[in-house]
Amino acid sequence: MTILQENSSTTSAGASASSGGLNPTSILHRTTWRPPVAVSADGMYIQLEDGRRVIDAVGGAAVSCIGNGHPDVTKAMKDQIDTVSYVYNMQLSNKPAEELAKYMVSTGKGAFESVVFVSGGSEAMEAVLKLARQYFYETKQHQRSNFIARQLSFHGNTLGTLALAYHPARRAPYVDLLNKTNFHHVSPAYAKRFQKPEETEEEYVERLRQELEDKFQELGPDTVIGFVAETVVGATSGVVPPPKGYLTAMKSVCDKYGALFILDEVMSGMGRLGTTHAWETFGDGAIPDLQAVAKGLGGGYATIGAVLMSKRVTDGIRDSAGFMKHGHTYQAHPVSCAASLAVQSVVDSQNLLANSLEQGELLSSLLRTKLTTPNSPLSPYVFDIRGRGAWWAVEFEFAEPKGDAKPLQFKGGESFAMLVQAKCLEKGLVIMAFHGGANLEGTKGDHIMFSPAYNVTKEQTEKIVEIFIESAEEVFREDVI
Ligand SMILES: Cc1ncc(COP(=O)(O)O)c(C=O)c1O
Repeated sequence: MTILQENSSTTSAGASASSGGLNPTSILHRTTWRPPVAVSADGMYIQLEDGRRVIDAVGGAAVSCIGNGHPDVTKAMKDQIDTVSYVYNMQLSNKPAEELAKYMVSTGKGAFESVVFVSGGSEAMEAVLKLARQYFYETKQHQRSNFIARQLSFHGNTLGTLALAYHPARRAPYVDLLNKTNFHHVSPAYAKRFQKPEETEEEYVERLRQELEDKFQELGPDTVIGFVAETVVGATSGVVPPPKGYLTAMKSVCDKYGALFILDEVMSGMGRLGTTHAWETFGDGAIPDLQAVAKGLGGGYATIGAVLMSKRVTDGIRDSAGFMKHGHTYQAHPVSCAASLAVQSVVDSQNLLANSLEQGELLSSLLRTKLTTPNSPLSPYVFDIRGRGAWWAVEFEFAEPKGDAKPLQFKGGESFAMLVQAKCLEKGLVIMAFHGGANLEGTKGDHIMFSPAYNVTKEQTEKIVEIFIESAEEVFREDVI
């Protein structure tokens, strides 16, 4: 019997809400169930307090890009603690931060001129907002105070980033606190859901470009600071790439009116999609003026995020104030920067992006084979399997299935994806489930995300698919009403 069954009192996630039998917790958890406690970890395997060993197929939250406990990284972190454990960046800089900044600039191949380090993705996106505003403040365009982002986006959990992004369920408790004056939204770029049947891809992109241009006109083109998008959408709709030419079209509107083109690559960047920056693959050459990265930068060894800035933005600030007017205590932390340098060195020296592309092909072909074969009971309900490199999603559609299959609901009104996530954990697999990414209201849609470490092996990839399919089919058999 598993830890979840022992303590079962099924909740909206289909897992245990009760803490009976477990040690009491003083943590106010983020889940309706009690998350099992991890006691040790090695690569992609995590040992739980109850004795089980699980395989992490999603790198926490698309974070662990080389797994746990890599000796090069732990050594670099220990050495750094022994050398300089902390200095405050308004007084002193430090060597790993300087070195990491040079490395990050070099990854842009001319796109970037400077870098700012922060402690995570939300902080990176907050810094993006403030740097973008500071740029126009310093260049004497004080009237620029509007950001345009997209519906069904996610840019973080601070009040600023929640206001910037738009997902109704995530905003709901805080909506009265969110700034609606300076943050505006246009349609998502999600062709499979929102492209009209009579439209070509080109026409769809043109409709979205026109909508952005209309929004600029409505707000006053010279009041817009910038347009912000996740290069590939992550936590709302699940690994949704932009249609071809979309990012170039959106950037052309920004360029036309002197606004900034801003990409959030907190989840999609730092190698997750098989190239260091997601725009290298999905951007059609649309290089951002500002870009946020985080998760894969420190790979989970350190809490770190970064903002990458173009020459235009850097010069605008350097040639006036000369410094960034925003910051936090743990910015450019020496241990976080040393850890990130070591993570990036492992990814580069072991050619892990090539491995992630190869394993990604295997993962997707196994998923397609198992889920879309006519023998699979799930086949009529598979809406899409999409991704690249070490980042994939399977989206299900139970309200409007294919062919003669009948629409389905699950016991207790549960989300299929959430039930599968719980079942996978029982069987020793960590994946991530999302609900509400398929319509603008955020009430429809079930998808499962896979984001294994870039050094995942063939055997691990096969095991991930095996447990996932077994779990999904079991939920399908047992929980349909
Ligand atoms: C695109 C994007 N931006 C920002 C964030 C926020 O990052 P963090 O959770 O590190 O604050 C996330 C987190 O998932 C994300 O996916």
